Amino acid sequence: MTKAIRIHETGGPEVMKWEDVDVGGPGEGQVRLRQTAMGLNFIDCYHRMGLYPLPSLPAVIGAEAAAVIEEIGPGVTGLTVGQRVAYAPVPGAYAEERLIPATKLIALPDEVTDEQAASMMLQGMTARFLVKKTYAIQSGDTILIHAAAGGVGSIVCQWAKHMGATVIGTVGTDEKAELAKANGCDYPIVYTRESFKDRVSEITDGEGLPVVYDSIGKDTFDDSLDCLQPLGTMVTFGNASGPVPPMAPNILAGKGSLFLTRPGLVHYTGKREDLVETANDLFDVVANGHVKVSVNQTYALKDAAQAHIDLEARKTTGSTIFLP
Ligand SMILES: NC(=O)c1ccc[n+]([C@@H]2O[C@H](COP(=O)([O-])OP(=O)(O)OC[C@H]3O[C@@H](n4cnc5c(N)ncnc54)[C@H](OP(=O)(O)O)[C@@H]3O)[C@@H](O)[C@H]2O)c1
Repeated sequence: MTKAIRIHETGGPEVMKWEDVDVGGPGEGQVRLRQTAMGLNFIDCYHRMGLYPLPSLPAVIGAEAAAVIEEIGPGVTGLTVGQRVAYAPVPGAYAEERLIPATKLIALPDEVTDEQAASMMLQGMTARFLVKKTYAIQSGDTILIHAAAGGVGSIVCQWAKHMGATVIGTVGTDEKAELAKANGCDYPIVYTRESFKDRVSEITDGEGLPVVYDSIGKDTFDDSLDCLQPLGTMVTFGNASGPVPPMAPNILAGKGSLFLTRPGLVHYTGKREDLVETANDLFDVVANGHVKVSVNQTYALKDAAQAHIDLEARKTTGSTIFLP
């Protein structure tokens, strides 16, 4: 038996229960992990509330952790008992122990701590595919990233800056604006009191941007489209304020033959070689000091419901982890 945070129904943070769970032994291609730190991500809220349905209930939520391998199942090669590993995104992470397919694991280099890994695998690999794959930032680009003081946003600011971009970022408060600035955001915009669309127009002399990275969804989508220059790329990659309603493709023509994409980490790391390349690139930028991942909140895993309350109330900054 191990302890885990499970949901039996979807809903608010109160549906998360700290329960005994029987993990069992690893089957073909699996390993059993003792988890040392888990990451908090907005996708955990979407799973909890049912916006992204889980295959079945009850389910352990959470998608990211660092761990030590305890037991290796048949057919697994290249991993050893006692080895430090991490993974994302794989549902079932809010648990002291779990089973997982070996192919989902990334071996952790000595210089990456368990807490660092749990805080950056999901948000850092997301930042990486956004800035290098979905729209490959070129030196000299000016970009907009929403929630610039959040988990993904803090990393995108630093990575985009390192790639030579001028970074515009939206934030909910003045304190978050300071944080974003410290992470390389040239123009923090407090979008709770200023129109980010108007500010982007001022900053770019009306030219608009080649790319907008929008994880807020419903509340920002329309104005984000208006920040783009002709042939610009709208990357809608999250729904912190709720999902974007359906829209007619013609709107993209009217606003300048825009490109619209709704990417997900699971597809950018679905092939083993892409997962390894993405993780290694993240480890490199962190090891070289180009990106620093800040663990600004730590909770006991059994208090995960409180962490969800704080994340959804926009009280967290940077990354958040759980300790077992
Ligand atoms: N597509 C993918 O593969 C992928 C992968 C990872 C993450 N994501 C998305 O990226 C976004 C950021 O994830 P994260 O885990 O790093 O979270 P986060 O950015 O640390 O937290 C979300 C932030 O969104 C902002 N926000 C604006 N309106 C909000 C509202 N109505 N309710 C709650 N928050 C609101 C808040 O910042 P301000 O107060 O500064 O506005 C809040 O801190 C999420 O939308 C997530 O779904 C997508």
